[in-house]
Amino acid sequence: MKILVTGAGGQLGHDVVSHCQLLGDDVTGVSRAELDVTQRDHVHAVISSLRPDAVINCAAWTAVDACESNREYAFTANALSVRWLREATARSASHLVTISTDYVFDGTKIEPYDEWDTPNPQSIYGASKLAGEREAGPDAAIVRTSWVCGEHGSNMVATVLKLINEHDQLSFVDDQRGCPTFTADLAPALRQLAVERRAGIHHLTNSRPVSWFEFVQEIVSAAGRDPSMVLPIPTSDLDPPRPAPRPMNSVLDNAVWRVAGLEPLRDHLEPLRELVASLHGNN
Ligand SMILES: NC(=O)c1ccc[n+]([C@@H]2O[C@H](COP(=O)([O-])OP(=O)(O)OC[C@H]3O[C@@H](n4cnc5c(N)ncnc54)[C@H](OP(=O)(O)O)[C@@H]3O)[C@@H](O)[C@H]2O)c1
Repeated sequence: MKILVTGAGGQLGHDVVSHCQLLGDDVTGVSRAELDVTQRDHVHAVISSLRPDAVINCAAWTAVDACESNREYAFTANALSVRWLREATARSASHLVTISTDYVFDGTKIEPYDEWDTPNPQSIYGASKLAGEREAGPDAAIVRTSWVCGEHGSNMVATVLKLINEHDQLSFVDDQRGCPTFTADLAPALRQLAVERRAGIHHLTNSRPVSWFEFVQEIVSAAGRDPSMVLPIPTSDLDPPRPAPRPMNSVLDNAVWRVAGLEPLRDHLEPLRELVASLHGNN
């Protein structure tokens, strides 16, 4: 497989490139400095000269709160860029796999969200990612994931490992639920969608929903510390409140993946322990 990975400087893009390299693919990972996906001419030039079998788009403006004060750039980076990628991949007959988010939902549903539930984003970031889904067109694979953690980026695991060395007590919300997802497990699934040229929306997360409070307790335990140092608080107690509202229920039912008979991603505790071990090993 000849694969182009955009956003290769990010936590997911980095691990998609590593995984494809491991499997012997001819993979080119491009960071924002090497390919700014908002630049139509550059997107066309890179894809038409490389002519990859697939493009896995991991580039995005993921600063959820900052998106609230720059709507135009959020839509440029997260939606218009996907239009350029769709145009260019169509011309080179490359399969497009693009990543979206649980934030396309409003979080009011009690049950997990499946691929046919109606999105209703509450933040600019969520709205821009939903627009990106629509720009991807019917032939692309669109992967909605949530609570992404990897070795090469900022995420909840990295944050908590730092915080436990600085504080005796931590407070995290216990009324927002979701599925932590680890790049080590998501990357192979993205490659599979690319190889098999699957189309349409796929929810893809590691298994077993938790609240942020429960997830942080798991991280603290995996780091060998006492999880009782973590206290539950309601979202209404966050001070200051965050500019972008988060969905209270972010749980994504991986219905398409399951019904298609594909191997579900593991319980998140296993990749969590592996990530904590490798982040500790790096310190
Ligand atoms: N992180 C999560 O919890 C989460 C949850 C659900 C879905 N997702 C989705 O998962 C995907 C991967 O996210 P991630 O966690 O790997 O985020 P990330 O670490 O922030 O990576 C995104 C990468 O995209 C790059 N980028 C931003 N604007 C760009 C542009 N105009 N052209 C090219 N590259 C650009 C960023 O570069 P700079 O660092 O230089 O800006 C960064 O390297 C995204 O589509 C995101 O929306 C993430």
